[in-house]
Amino acid sequence: MKIKDKEFELYIDNTKIINKVKALAEQINEDYKDKNPLFIAILNGSFMFAGDLMKYVDVDSQITFIKVSSYVATQSTGNIKEAIGLQENIFQRDIIIIEDIVDSGKTLTHITERFKELGPKSVEIATLLHKPEVNKTDLSLKYVGFDIPNKFVIGYGLDYDGYGRNEQCIYQLSEEKTITKNMLNLVLFGPPGAGKGTQSEKIIDKYKLTHIATGDLFRKNLSEGTALGKLAQGYMDEGHLVPDQVVIDMVDQKIRETADTNGFIFDGFPRTVAQAEALDELLTKNGTAISGMIALEVSEEELVNRILERGKTSGRADDQNIEKIQTRVKIYNNETLPVASFYKAQNKFSSINGIGGIDDIFENISAAIDALK
Ligand code: IMP
Ligand code: MG
Repeated sequence: MKIKDKEFELYIDNTKIINKVKALAEQINEDYKDKNPLFIAILNGSFMFAGDLMKYVDVDSQITFIKVSSYVATQSTGNIKEAIGLQENIFQRDIIIIEDIVDSGKTLTHITERFKELGPKSVEIATLLHKPEVNKTDLSLKYVGFDIPNKFVIGYGLDYDGYGRNEQCIYQLSEEKTITKNMLNLVLFGPPGAGKGTQSEKIIDKYKLTHIATGDLFRKNLSEGTALGKLAQGYMDEGHLVPDQVVIDMVDQKIRETADTNGFIFDGFPRTVAQAEALDELLTKNGTAISGMIALEVSEEELVNRILERGKTSGRADDQNIEKIQTRVKIYNNETLPVASFYKAQNKFSSINGIGGIDDIFENISAAIDALK
């Protein structure tokens, strides 16, 4: 079945779903025999599960709805905006939250924390689906229909970009182009003036790699007005930095789009340890990993000379002032040091002397890369 640009295949048929819903309702009927629970279903995704579950709940109870949204297309952004707040008084009530799916668990963690401030007698969660591989929270999920692997699913209330909610069965995204080949994935770093542009072109050419520069991705998403581009724009419009997760999601998209490559060369990214960790996670999810970080090292003195030399013809004001150049190099060093340590700890760090002839330097880089393979 095709929804928008993606292919989905049957995963859990309606009979199985309904049997499970009945079993969950029976458990709830048992546990809440003499209580008067208030069900709070989280819109939009849980409407169908909530509707069917309530048909089989036979204890005195009420149901209400709230709406939060944490999802842009198929990627959880982790930023939760409350769209519809809670209207009911839940003080001293037994609450059962009804959710369609627990993925990162961030939405429910946020909601249960908020609810607990309002003095309910108890708060439990009933979710039809749970992705245990993704959920790193310590949420206690009392009623779980199905534990499922980390695959995007739709149907029975769940959507892809708003579509697919009306399906009676649950479908999963067809086998994504998984990258299983022995890929060569490099992180390339070098201070301004180290010759990174020249060397990266040579590396890409020799090893047939795909270039990923986050600045380029960013501009592309903004100019094409993609969902991620709009999300990024929203942060920028409010004067905030675009969060790492948005940048990571852009990289993720680019990786999925270019699954048949020998590897990727990440240029000037990751810039923080948090980004490096997220990149590791992302590559693992895609069946691959970073092979190594190549750092082009050039002494500060040499960099200053090179940039001053370039400044004679480049006309860039920041190429002509020693202090400005030194500041740029310092910022670079402060930024990369923690990232370099991150890869050193994994034994994936190669330092290359960036002083000498272009071809000699490239030979050293090639030797370092070949040692990684
Ligand atoms: P969490 O905060 O990451 O647990 O995300 C929970 C919400 O993300 C759910 O209520 C869904 O709206 C959405 N979601 C998570 N995984 C999927 C999926 O596989 N298909 C559709 N929506 C999903
Ligand atoms: Mg939901």
